[in-house]
Amino acid sequence: MLKKAVILGCGAYLPEKVLTNDDLSKMVNTSDEWIRERTGIRERHVVSEGELTSDLAVKAATEALEAAGLTASDIDLVLVATTTPDLTFPSTAAIVQAKLGVEEGAAFDIQAVCTGFVYALSTAEKFLATGQHRRALVIGAETFSRILDWEDRATCVLFGDGAGAFVLEAQDSETAGDRGVMQSYLRCDGRLVDLLYVDGGVSSSQSTGHVRMQGNKVFREAVIRISQAMEKVMADAGVSVQDIDWFVPHQANERIILGVVKKLDLRREQVISTIAGQGNTSAASIPLAYHAGVSDGRIKQGDLVLLEAMGGGLTWGAALLRA
Ligand code: UT7
Repeated sequence: MLKKAVILGCGAYLPEKVLTNDDLSKMVNTSDEWIRERTGIRERHVVSEGELTSDLAVKAATEALEAAGLTASDIDLVLVATTTPDLTFPSTAAIVQAKLGVEEGAAFDIQAVCTGFVYALSTAEKFLATGQHRRALVIGAETFSRILDWEDRATCVLFGDGAGAFVLEAQDSETAGDRGVMQSYLRCDGRLVDLLYVDGGVSSSQSTGHVRMQGNKVFREAVIRISQAMEKVMADAGVSVQDIDWFVPHQANERIILGVVKKLDLRREQVISTIAGQGNTSAASIPLAYHAGVSDGRIKQGDLVLLEAMGGGLTWGAALLRA
């Protein structure tokens, strides 16, 4: 009998340093007005010197463990969704595992860029469902500021740093009731790699490289593919859009989010949006937004929550869960 993966707690962390649109307009030829109108972003957090992706991940994970009433010794699976690892190897998950003091089970990174958290959540759910692991930390953590070309106004204004984390537990269906991750749907179309990528890497340039994006082409792909993925998870779960309580989207662009809301007939008030104060934090944006919704009392136990993301690859996907 497959088990349910139930969310026991979540956590978040944003670096202290804030970069406003006005700060950016002193660095590149842009303006607060352009950034706000085209993206919805007002400011974003960025790491300071010496602050690593694993540091952000550990802070978010520590809060998630506290919220779940658990300690590191209760965890036997650590997944970190990141595109900005501390090192080429070992995985950031291995580093996070050690910093937290987790001693049991497995740890590995998931690389699906901005879709990383949906991929990681789906992976964890499968590992817990079979009973192979009992409790997972699923973390999205990014320091995108390290891979931005700070002279390219088309990309450097969009991204921010941060981390968010879920603690998931494998439960029998009698214990879980209707709670848990219900459905997920993951996609990739590698033919579209040129739309969004980093122009460097270990085996190509032996350097880190910088983010390159054909933003308007990604934009054109986004609403339709994201909406299809959301419709797929709802259909597979046998729920309709009227059943959804909260929509927690990847925070890439407010116009994409509102395009999806319109296409699926969701209500604007159902959107948990953090984009204004955080920008696009890639794999961290969904757990950061989910945490915002839980912290201010909007997302309550038993609520039906729809997640979606799209990112480099192109990758995209959606997940449906009952909190
Ligand atoms: O999370 C991963 C997935 N990523 C995304 O989903 C991002 C998807 N794309 C987008 O969000 C939008 O395409 C952007 C926000 C990146 C750009 O918005 P847009 O409405 O698609 O603008 P555009 O790229 O078509 O550019 C319009 C104009 C151009 O000038 P011209 O050619 O019309 O003279 C750009 O050079 O805006 C110019 N521009 C800027 N102007 C001021 C581009 N970046 C900036 C800037 N400040 N920062």
